[in-house]
Amino acid sequence: MTQAEFVVVANRLPVDRVPGGGEDDWRRSPGGLVTALEPVMRRADGAWVGWVGQADHHVEPFDFDGTHLVPVALSSEEVELYYEGMSNDTFWPLYHDVISAPQYHREWWDAYVKVNRRFAEAAADTAAEGATVWVQDYQLQLVPRLLRERRPDLTIGYFHHIPFPAYGLYSQLPWRRQVIEGLLGADVIGFQRVADAGNFARAVRRVLHYTTKGSGIHIPEDDGSTRVAVARAFPISIDSEAYVEMARREDIQARAAEIREGLGNPRTILLGVDRLDYTKGIRHRLKAFGELLAGGEVDVADVTLVQVASPSRERVGAYMQLRDEIELTVARIAGDYDTLDHTAVRYLHHSYPREEMVALFLAADVMLVTALRDGMNLVAKEYVATRTDNRGVLVLSEFAGAADELSSAVMVNPHDIDGLKEAIVRAIEMSPAEQSRRMRSLRRKVLDNDVGRWSRSFLDALVEARRVKDGKDAA
Ligand code: G6P
Repeated sequence: MTQAEFVVVANRLPVDRVPGGGEDDWRRSPGGLVTALEPVMRRADGAWVGWVGQADHHVEPFDFDGTHLVPVALSSEEVELYYEGMSNDTFWPLYHDVISAPQYHREWWDAYVKVNRRFAEAAADTAAEGATVWVQDYQLQLVPRLLRERRPDLTIGYFHHIPFPAYGLYSQLPWRRQVIEGLLGADVIGFQRVADAGNFARAVRRVLHYTTKGSGIHIPEDDGSTRVAVARAFPISIDSEAYVEMARREDIQARAAEIREGLGNPRTILLGVDRLDYTKGIRHRLKAFGELLAGGEVDVADVTLVQVASPSRERVGAYMQLRDEIELTVARIAGDYDTLDHTAVRYLHHSYPREEMVALFLAADVMLVTALRDGMNLVAKEYVATRTDNRGVLVLSEFAGAADELSSAVMVNPHDIDGLKEAIVRAIEMSPAEQSRRMRSLRRKVLDNDVGRWSRSFLDALVEARRVKDGKDAA
């Protein structure tokens, strides 16, 4: 059994099966986390514990591109109860401010506990003595504690990629105490926004009555001593340089021109890029755009909205319903406003490779990020990174984590449809000088704070936690 000094534990492994390929044909997943951790993984001879993404699939541990991968198998029933149920129909809506009603089912919870235990066991078997383990996201909130119980020698980090809600909402959770205790098994608990870390600290005070001071949470131990866990914001980012490089590629620029051409060279292209998820505010965006067409503020001959909605969690009821609603709305807008020459909304229910996304970013004059609640929203950062000529406008929801850093965007409250309409018109009409002034400031933020910096700052905090721990052990 491999003993790794650095172990990442995430619901998904950093690889996908190559479509049409053999059993052993894997390719690296496109996500930012995977890119960010790649150098760390190589340096530390790291291992990654995660699910292969298919039910009832038992795969032996294998090495991929310098990383040792440890697959965790899930039965189809566990996929239904732990992944689709508890993770994506309870925690996801609850943590995104109850935009969709969370369901509370005891059998989902039981499966969540069981699967979290399995991940913790796999991590415990993979980590070398005194190793560092970094647990990712809401699917695995119990793993930090389960792991600490099994392996007190480890330094454990946890990063929460999605929002942590206000206590008034969090308190609905029938297992609110167990989840807090699970997370507090970590030495460092990272959040996207300062507000998320604050909500978490408040929940700790309310549920467990522990003391919190600044980012420190004082946890009484069985032997009468106190352990201090750190809970604070580490806003995640993208591999900014990789986006800049792609944006400079001639083939990608040519593709952007081709996309514009294909849309009939409208004066303005608005773009939305999201997983098809009710947190993203796609319906609000379509409503605002539909009203602008209806009111004549926007003409279909001049403005096209391209909406990429990539398929996601398609077996969860709320996602099926959302898809129906969005597709009905898109079809209505098309029926009312399309002409033989122009389409109002080009709706694409697909995922695309990164290069194609960059070409779309380059083709778009206005990027619409209208999330009702979002941990960060990396699409906003990706758009900004690709705008090397400082043109283009980012319309950004104040409810996305990215709003804390990207304050030079045109900020919107997506619930305020009139405000959203005004913001879209303002973006369409914005002078090149104002676009450039805003975009320069946005780009500085995204280029200075890339995902490498994010992972380094989190891992530095873990090193510091380790130092404090070693000091305590030695005393
Ligand atoms: C969000 C979550 C991730 C998750 C991703 C895709 O970004 O924070 O943990 O992996 O959505 O969702 P999926 O359910 O397909 O893994």
